[in-house]
Amino acid sequence: MTDHTHQRLLRIGLPSKGRLADISAQLLHEAGLTFRRPERSLFARCRDMPVEMTFLRTDDIPVLAAEGAIDMGITGADLVAESGASLIHRLDLGIGSCRLALCVAEESPVKEARHLAGQRIATSFPNITRTWLAQRGVEAHFVELSGSVEVMIQLGVADAIVDLVETGSTLAANRLRVLDEIGRYETVLVQNQHVRDAALADRIVRRLEGIVIARSYSLLEYNIPRLGLAAAEKITPGFNSPTVSALEDPAWCAVRAMVRRSDAHGIIERLEAIGASAIVETAISNCRL
Ligand code: PRP
Repeated sequence: MTDHTHQRLLRIGLPSKGRLADISAQLLHEAGLTFRRPERSLFARCRDMPVEMTFLRTDDIPVLAAEGAIDMGITGADLVAESGASLIHRLDLGIGSCRLALCVAEESPVKEARHLAGQRIATSFPNITRTWLAQRGVEAHFVELSGSVEVMIQLGVADAIVDLVETGSTLAANRLRVLDEIGRYETVLVQNQHVRDAALADRIVRRLEGIVIARSYSLLEYNIPRLGLAAAEKITPGFNSPTVSALEDPAWCAVRAMVRRSDAHGIIERLEAIGASAIVETAISNCRL
């Protein structure tokens, strides 16, 4: 058994609460980085690797990673961009996708961002917004807030807001409409420029990558007459190329290929239409490509 007690542990910063906290912990567990967070503790030691988890506010993770307090961190790409921290982007985690949008009241006569010159914009993303507006030659007055941005037009302190939109229900509930999209973001794994154990960091990235890919792909297996194989391979080209095996009946063969999970239903219908049978979709729990 390896004794890690005298080694410096690689520190990963994780969101301490909310939906992202649960999702990141789940992702790490699936990647074999298991830990149990003692109640209210800010640290948790990883069972099988020389890694320590540190539970932090999601919006502090970029700056704490840049300062070296943590070696790696899970946070939103929006928060990384807003912080301006110099970090290495290691992996998109395929979760938490959202867009940052410039919004006005439903009944507002404003039609374009340039009409907001000199007006008041409430946001928690002043840096991203200022840069985006400057690229369009617009200067505005900023009301910088850390939350509840969606009510600021109603409160009379802003003419427009810049906020994250996921499902759009917050906008609808506050009678707001999107004027323009500023950016699209998702949850990411970032790394300090001088990570203390680069080889271990790479192992962690590869493990997480295996889970992220596994979550978005399925394995499709089916039988197809040899005459239809070329057409079938066009529908399921696989990651590199599909695996084709012989069947007892020489007129048929079996194909195995990975497909995007979101496309699977459509692909199955197209395969069926060209004569494929015994089509089976299987979930993948982990993979290395
Ligand atoms: C975010 C964001 C919006 C809302 C958008 O807030 O600031 O208010 O989600 O989501 P929707 O389009 O699905 O309605 P969050 O819940 O993260 O809390 P916060 O306002 O405290 O940041």
